[in-house]
Amino acid sequence: MQTLTQSVPDRTTGGILIENLRKVYGQGDTAVEALKNVNMAVSPGEVVGLVGPSGSGKSTLLKCLGAIIEPTSGRMTLGQDVIYDNGWKVRDLRALRRDRIGFVFQAPYLIPFLDVMDNVALLPMLAGKANAQSRVRALELLTALDVQHRAKAQPSQLSGGEQQRVSIARALANRPPVILADEPTAPLDSERALGVMRILNQMAKQAQTAIIVVTHDEKIIPTFKRIYHIRDGQTVEEAGEGRSLD
Ligand SMILES: Nc1ncnc2c1ncn2[C@@H]1O[C@H](COP(=O)(O)OP(=O)(O)O)[C@@H](O)[C@H]1O
Ligand SMILES: [Mg+2]
Repeated sequence: MQTLTQSVPDRTTGGILIENLRKVYGQGDTAVEALKNVNMAVSPGEVVGLVGPSGSGKSTLLKCLGAIIEPTSGRMTLGQDVIYDNGWKVRDLRALRRDRIGFVFQAPYLIPFLDVMDNVALLPMLAGKANAQSRVRALELLTALDVQHRAKAQPSQLSGGEQQRVSIARALANRPPVILADEPTAPLDSERALGVMRILNQMAKQAQTAIIVVTHDEKIIPTFKRIYHIRDGQTVEEAGEGRSLD
């Protein structure tokens, strides 16, 4: 049994739990220890910040948690399920990524030959939802994000802010219990950046989603109630300002 650091509460009710996570890229002389000892806990309904300098391991951590790359050791729990414990504990990692994790990236990777509606409806369709039902869900999200009037547009016709809002709608489409956002507000002005944070906080509250936002955006850092600082592959928890978004 691995011991938790003091700052990591025991959470058995869901959300995200990361314990003693380590990731080494490469081997021998060229090995890079990107994550040394990461401990994090995010409750359902909570939005936490993950802040650290370039090269500190932020993207590596999100990729491990998102089952895009394999950690070297440690443990990760999503909801009630241990997904990794010194090895993957889930057989179908593609289904895990598709059904349980929503990704928001700095550059919104929208599919260029699908219109906005289909970009958002695609994931629910792939997960087996009926087309009509998927489109209703997509329209509901586009409306919540105030881009419903762009539903028939191609991604290339959208502004940066609109593209980012569409990519958030897509991340939410399958109602994943976990959302991982890597610098989601970097290309946005202050008002839009805070708008994105407002949406993520509403989503967390309404759907009891656990959300991690990687950022060094000074505009949004004061909005977090809790922040994990990552330096040289190790995390330290800190209380944030939790500034109101209303
Ligand atoms: N595929 C890779 N192969 C080898 N080293 C990598 C790879 N990806 C990242 N690294 C190294 O791991 C460390 C953490 O990188 P990264 O997680 O991208 O940091 P951040 O997102 O905080 O900037 C850095 O030293 C980086 O050079
Ligand atoms: Mg990064």
